[in-house]
Amino acid sequence: MINRNDLCWCGSKKKWKFCHYPNKGTNINKKEEYLKKYGIILKSPEEIKKIKKACNVTAIILNELCNAAKEGVTTNELDILSRQLHKEFNAIPAPYHYGSPPFPKTICTSLNEVICHGIPNNEPLKRGDILNIDVSCIVNGFYGDCSRMVTIPPVSKQDALLCEVALECLNESIQILRPNLPICAIGDTIEEIAKKHGFSVVHQFIGHGVGLSFHEEPPIPHHKNKINIPLVEGMIFTIEPMINAGVAEGTIDKKNHWEARTIDNKKSAQWEHTVLITKTGYEILTLLNK
Ligand code: MF3
Ligand code: CO
Repeated sequence: MINRNDLCWCGSKKKWKFCHYPNKGTNINKKEEYLKKYGIILKSPEEIKKIKKACNVTAIILNELCNAAKEGVTTNELDILSRQLHKEFNAIPAPYHYGSPPFPKTICTSLNEVICHGIPNNEPLKRGDILNIDVSCIVNGFYGDCSRMVTIPPVSKQDALLCEVALECLNESIQILRPNLPICAIGDTIEEIAKKHGFSVVHQFIGHGVGLSFHEEPPIPHHKNKINIPLVEGMIFTIEPMINAGVAEGTIDKKNHWEARTIDNKKSAQWEHTVLITKTGYEILTLLNK
């Protein structure tokens, strides 16, 4: 009798379980293959339902925080509001005490030349600022992750363009998503758009699988790369391109070990969604009103 781990009878040189093994029409084969080969956890319909709930709460909290970000407001005040909102929605802020040294606040607020992982502080927002607010929630043990830019008017034409192009990078790279697309197509799309405007793409920080934990496989680089893993139904990950007005390189703050700033002190913009690969394409899980 043929064993699941034997080579398939069809001559593919793949194990039977990864090839013609009968699986009642579900994607159990793929699930095992993706976990073994890539460490990627394909999500079941039940898991997807719960991750969608977490993503919805994440999007609502992010929206409230963006609405509250006005001239004169401090990012510490946004962090306090974030704590209240997380309580209200029975959500745990994933960044709080995450990593080493433990992240001290419940959201990331990355201002102007800060690329990502900005720590809320007592500096009031001022005219001309561009700010990324990044919210990651745990709801009933499942994760959602998204971020947006807010601008404090009036902002310069160049800064407004940077924010718009970063959003275009995110949206265009989402629109191409479908089963079988290699992961590297995402970075190709983003880098092309950024370059066209004379902007650069950050390599140092990348998108990631998400859902059952905060950061899962696979890595999702936003720059040109060679990761040719094909997307498949049930994958959930973030795309979160960081686009710089000047050079791509950043340096991490020597005191707090979190905040990443551009080395030329030019501005940086970022937008993020959590997305699901479906049978025919994709679904954005962190859109509002879903
Ligand atoms: N979206 C960011 C990420 O995936 C959120 C970082 S929160 C932090 O890395 F705690 F890690 F800073
Ligand atoms: Co993220």
